[in-house]
Amino acid sequence: MTSLSSLLKGGLLLPIIQAEQPEQAVAIAKAMQQGGVTAVEVVLRTAAALDCISAIRAEVPQLLTGAGTILSAKDANNAKAAGAQFLVSPASTPELLKAMINTELALAPGVATPSEMAMALELGLTELKFFPAHLAGGIEMLKALSGIFQQVQFCPTGGVHLTNLADFLALPNVFVVGGSWLSPKEWVQQQNWNAITELTRQSVAMAEQ
Ligand code: 3PG
Repeated sequence: MTSLSSLLKGGLLLPIIQAEQPEQAVAIAKAMQQGGVTAVEVVLRTAAALDCISAIRAEVPQLLTGAGTILSAKDANNAKAAGAQFLVSPASTPELLKAMINTELALAPGVATPSEMAMALELGLTELKFFPAHLAGGIEMLKALSGIFQQVQFCPTGGVHLTNLADFLALPNVFVVGGSWLSPKEWVQQQNWNAITELTRQSVAMAEQ
């Protein structure tokens, strides 16, 4: 199985796209790409999410496009069929992890506790989404986990934004940060793609400092 970190090729931001129609998803993806992002996670939280993944793959092919909010084997298989290049989940159960592994896509399953991390490790998974990062203990929790889970690299998500992303990325056990901060609902409704591009630019600069 390819790892998510190898697909990301050093990209430090994994913004979420939640879109109601494929055209909206493509516009958001293009705005983020113009701002310097190289990967996006389309969350399966709208009826059009799978079509949004296919549309981004077709119209913004240089962007690495994954599926998020994977909660079942069906979600995992549908996301792969729609063209997702990697899968992210907010949670982990043995059944969900096995279904995600069966797709042979790169994965970042969601964990918040040491027991969930141990379960993921038992299945050979070492790149994990730490969710909800802020509420689950944030930077201090990630520091505490680093000595115990030395082989794990995390993607903190949940409460990450422009002014704290650099603090997360400064941790040696963080390989990328994720979240929805680059596409606030108001900007999407107003089709303010320039604002998304500008915030993405600022965030990329902050991440690369
Ligand atoms: C997720 O799906 O990972 C979360 O919705 C992201 O949380 P955020 O909205 O706080 O970035």
